[in-house]
Amino acid sequence: MNKKFYITTPIYYPSAEFHIGHCYTTIIADAIARYKRLSGYDVYFQTGTDEHGLKIENKAKEAGVTPKEYVDKIILNAKDLWQSLNISYDYFIRTTDEDHKKRVQEIFKKLYDQGDIYKGEYKGLYCVPCESFWTETQVVDGKCPDCGRDVNLVTEEAYFFKLSKYQKPLEDFYETHPNFIEPESRKNEMLNNFIRPGLEDLCVSRTSFKWGIPVTFDEKHVIYVWIDALTNYITSLGYPEETEKFKKYWPCDLHLVGKEIVRFHTIIWPAILMALGLELPKQVFGHGWLIIDGGKISKSLGNYKDPREYIRTYGVDAVRYYALREVPFGSDGNFSEKSLITRTNSDLCNILGNLVSRTIQMGIKYFDGVVHESKKMEDIDAYLTESIYNLKTMVDGKVESLKINEALECIFEVLRKCNKYIDDTTPWVLAKEEENKERLETVIYNLLEGIRVCAIMLQPFIPETSEKIFKGLNISDTTFASIDKPVEVYNLGNEKPANLFERIKED
Ligand code: MSP
Repeated sequence: MNKKFYITTPIYYPSAEFHIGHCYTTIIADAIARYKRLSGYDVYFQTGTDEHGLKIENKAKEAGVTPKEYVDKIILNAKDLWQSLNISYDYFIRTTDEDHKKRVQEIFKKLYDQGDIYKGEYKGLYCVPCESFWTETQVVDGKCPDCGRDVNLVTEEAYFFKLSKYQKPLEDFYETHPNFIEPESRKNEMLNNFIRPGLEDLCVSRTSFKWGIPVTFDEKHVIYVWIDALTNYITSLGYPEETEKFKKYWPCDLHLVGKEIVRFHTIIWPAILMALGLELPKQVFGHGWLIIDGGKISKSLGNYKDPREYIRTYGVDAVRYYALREVPFGSDGNFSEKSLITRTNSDLCNILGNLVSRTIQMGIKYFDGVVHESKKMEDIDAYLTESIYNLKTMVDGKVESLKINEALECIFEVLRKCNKYIDDTTPWVLAKEEENKERLETVIYNLLEGIRVCAIMLQPFIPETSEKIFKGLNISDTTFASIDKPVEVYNLGNEKPANLFERIKED
């Protein structure tokens, strides 16, 4: 049986339309999911939306609609956005799904019955736009440390989860599972800033708003965001029922999240799972933020465009490539339309697009599109083909360690070598003499092989472009396994291929 791979994005708040930051996580998750599928894994890739809470209740009120009407519209757009980005999710969970709500209620009741949830009183400083409670030490000059707005002192009867009980088990778990949190720096932050100073019990219900899942045994309470939201990763598989799907895919292999919610995924989530007696996820990766002009792209600040505009203007693969290539995965990085254009021109247009069109055109012009396998190899050929056939091993290693931008860099290094090989072998000079015909065919063949292998490796990242290249090469076997089976004869046809990417004007 195939090995399984379960990967998730956070479930996003549909409090406003999604922006390029949400696309960032989702594109990366999609590329990894596609990579694993091509590597033979049975992949389950989940994304979705986190729809309850005061902020959405308020937004809907402002818009004069019910919360459900409010979120339905945003989710329609979100699904359209994911489709335009070729996001290949297997399941889209909404926390307003009836089966999710029922399962969350069962989980809450189970934790209450076994004593992990108890009733108490909550006092805290609350930031409405961020839906976050803060302690005295966390607020900065009386303001929310995330968005800088006012916080209010709130006291209410509430249910609590005994997070404090899991301090030691969490520390032990971190100790025995050194790769649980990546990058390493985030793990140290969790240990030093949160776990070691001591964990406080966590408030998990509210009476001050209604838009949430009711506590079945105390209906004036709704379940507060994190128990509702985090459990999406298991309710979608059927839990608390021990379904086949649950048995097959749990534990999750990779939760991809932005750095601001690493704490919830590496402290609260594992503690809930420990309380439920379930296995813990294998890894949580906390990536950095895309920032604009030094600040976070933010729904609350409204400093962004609908990402579909970029897709319409530059094409889906320009946006995907940019998200995957521009910023070392894990670090923050600046997002700008200008750098999107520069990246598209320099890599997709100049390196990839030019190589593909030049090579196919030469195949057509010099050999009527029929190019045979090489017979005689020179050193310069061996140098190129070695890097072509070693590429998969290199990229496998990079994807395994989630160095996604470096994985692409490896592929583009081979493409660059192919371009250099054209400059060094000068096919247009070889074409002048009939006696060089065999040598010319070897050169074109090696280039076609380079393009074929790179296009196969690019599939998870820029799938639409790879498809176009496969059409241009007229090949149908595009699995990872086919890399080691060089094509015997290329039959390119005689139609000049369309440019993969048009050069964009830079100001
Ligand atoms: N609903 C919670 C998550 C619950 S998961 C059980 C939430 N939602 S959110 O809409 O605020 O989405 C936050 C996530 O969106 C980040 O963790 C990250 O994955 C992505 N991003 C949002 N803005 C981003 C950037 N500016 N840059 C990179 N990623 C960003 O938190």
